[in-house]
Amino acid sequence: MSQTPAIKHYLQFSDLTADEYAYLLTRAALIKKKFKAYEKHQPLVDRTLAMIFEKASTRTRVSFEAGMYQLGGSVVHLTTGDSQLGRAEPIEDSAKVISRMVDLVMIRTFEQTKIEGFAAHSRVPVINGLTNEFHPCQILADIFTYIEHRGSIAGKTVAWVGDGNNMANTWLQASEILGFTVHVSTPSGYEVDQSIAGIRSSDSYKVFKDPMEACRGADLVTTDVWTSMGYEAENEARRAAFAEWRVDTEMMRVAQPDALFMHCLPAHRGEEVEAEVIDGPQSVVWDEAENRMHVQKALMEYLLLGRLA
Ligand code: CP
Ligand code: NVA
Repeated sequence: MSQTPAIKHYLQFSDLTADEYAYLLTRAALIKKKFKAYEKHQPLVDRTLAMIFEKASTRTRVSFEAGMYQLGGSVVHLTTGDSQLGRAEPIEDSAKVISRMVDLVMIRTFEQTKIEGFAAHSRVPVINGLTNEFHPCQILADIFTYIEHRGSIAGKTVAWVGDGNNMANTWLQASEILGFTVHVSTPSGYEVDQSIAGIRSSDSYKVFKDPMEACRGADLVTTDVWTSMGYEAENEARRAAFAEWRVDTEMMRVAQPDALFMHCLPAHRGEEVEAEVIDGPQSVVWDEAENRMHVQKALMEYLLLGRLA
């Protein structure tokens, strides 16, 4: 008797192994090459992706939606405001219903426990399109972008300047799996928490009080907004606390001469990053944003069809 294969979800970066990432990153490069050559790549004809947004988005929506159409499939877009999700239908019931009608679900929501609750009742793979705790699709795109520009990230140093947020947590998970180091510098009160980040040890990261020291010798300098979605009530306190955690040309100067700058976007020039840095020659933020689409196409294909090469 044939067994139904277990559903593979992508709820956090640690849901895939180094070997699976090696496959996905190679596959994403192939998919990107075909896209650039206007060559059709449609392994997901007749498949449907439901996208559920409980927070705002530009890149995540466009990259998943355009990506799914390019793969031959179609999408359904739901938000809290225009669905029963905003009227307190239990997440478990929503999962049972939605996953009977589509092949794949992408969710952007608040607590990680919410997406986990959805996945536990879903008949189809669920992808994390950002939660308070994690943003795995973004880090997948960031690593793909690093490799495109500089080759393997193994053994390299990534400087994280700013909030100990969903992006920082996901960088920590990635460093443990892919063998690089993260230098983390956050204002006090906004530190990363190893138990929230869900990592096994502190071997792959180092904490620095001074953001300049975190950037010294780094191969990649990266940051994010001072106030993530859902934390807007803390805006004023955060502005005061984060004033020194602005990536500037001095920080880039102490990094490696060929260091890259990344930001998941949206960015606030003059807050977490100086315009000279994000609009300067070391910044790869536009490639980083575009690559969301290519890596997510590889991810959707993998979750639904497994390895194809
Ligand atoms: N980086 C990112 O996830 O962007 P959006 O919030 O626009 O989707
Ligand atoms: N940390 C940010 C990322 C936005 C893409 C947030 O959660 O709002």
